[in-house]
Amino acid sequence: MDAVRLEERPAPAALPGDFGVARRFDPTRFDDDVAWRAWRAAKLAEHPRRADELIVPLADPARPTARELDALAEVLGRANMVIYRGPVLDEAGARAAVSGLARACGLRRFERHRSAGDDGLVAIRITDAPRQAGFIPYSDRPLGWHTDGYYAWGGPEAAIQAMVLHCVRPARSGGLNALLDPEIAYLRLRDRDPALVEALMRPGAMLIPPCEEEDGTVRGETIGPVFFRDPATGRLGMRYTARKRHIAWAEDALTRTAVAALVEIMTDDPVIFRLALEPGMGLLADNVLHDRSGFVDADDPAEGRLLLRLRSYDRIALPRPEFTA
Ligand SMILES: [Fe+2]
Repeated sequence: MDAVRLEERPAPAALPGDFGVARRFDPTRFDDDVAWRAWRAAKLAEHPRRADELIVPLADPARPTARELDALAEVLGRANMVIYRGPVLDEAGARAAVSGLARACGLRRFERHRSAGDDGLVAIRITDAPRQAGFIPYSDRPLGWHTDGYYAWGGPEAAIQAMVLHCVRPARSGGLNALLDPEIAYLRLRDRDPALVEALMRPGAMLIPPCEEEDGTVRGETIGPVFFRDPATGRLGMRYTARKRHIAWAEDALTRTAVAALVEIMTDDPVIFRLALEPGMGLLADNVLHDRSGFVDADDPAEGRLLLRLRSYDRIALPRPEFTA
């Protein structure tokens, strides 16, 4: 199926100060210590400290009001992610809610995924459906740290930029998500040693061998960076997986040290948010780092954990503050 197209509506107007500002911190530059220090200080000052600071109530996620969009944008600007809390909806209602919210945020081009419905949404639930059985996302097993679509690399223009993860039903227990803003991962790594960041910006940092991805689709080998600069916005992008198999890191000491440092950062960083999405709640985010703990599901599969996932090549078209010198 081709990329799903939702009803055409004009995207929200890009606000002044959003994209294309000249005085923006460039994450690929290591020779401008003033800009880096200013960005770092502002980023840490603005970033939320607790998961509950991420939560924005939405009366009807399918049709967010201008005021609600402002509230989403405010949190997104600080954390590159926001958790909305809407009414409890059944699967059909939740699908409409996620589609409406995505449209209101300017998300129109969705990942071609063989498990996606006509609305671009993928239902994440335990299943023994032939196409999904055996793959960790569709099981009760833990899912390690990753960014969505890390296994593909067609350049920064073709990266997954945004995601929605909406909870229809939680697990009986477990199934928590940990979330980490890639800008924080970058910042911590650069604090340790800028050379570690530079190593992970090399085009050959991360190799995904052919014929392997999380849903089993056959795919050619991809080689690309972990950290990159989105040419449209100048902002940082990140690809990562904690998987040990079906990935080959560049074979040099600096890359190995950098990958080990990232693992440490993702283990105990103070601004990793851990939460269990409740029915009606959802994550609206850039392609942030996330994992999922293992879970125990309801006995009745019809009552089992059900999350809806949307991945988009579009950026969330809500204004962000600038962390500039
Ligand atoms: Fe994911």
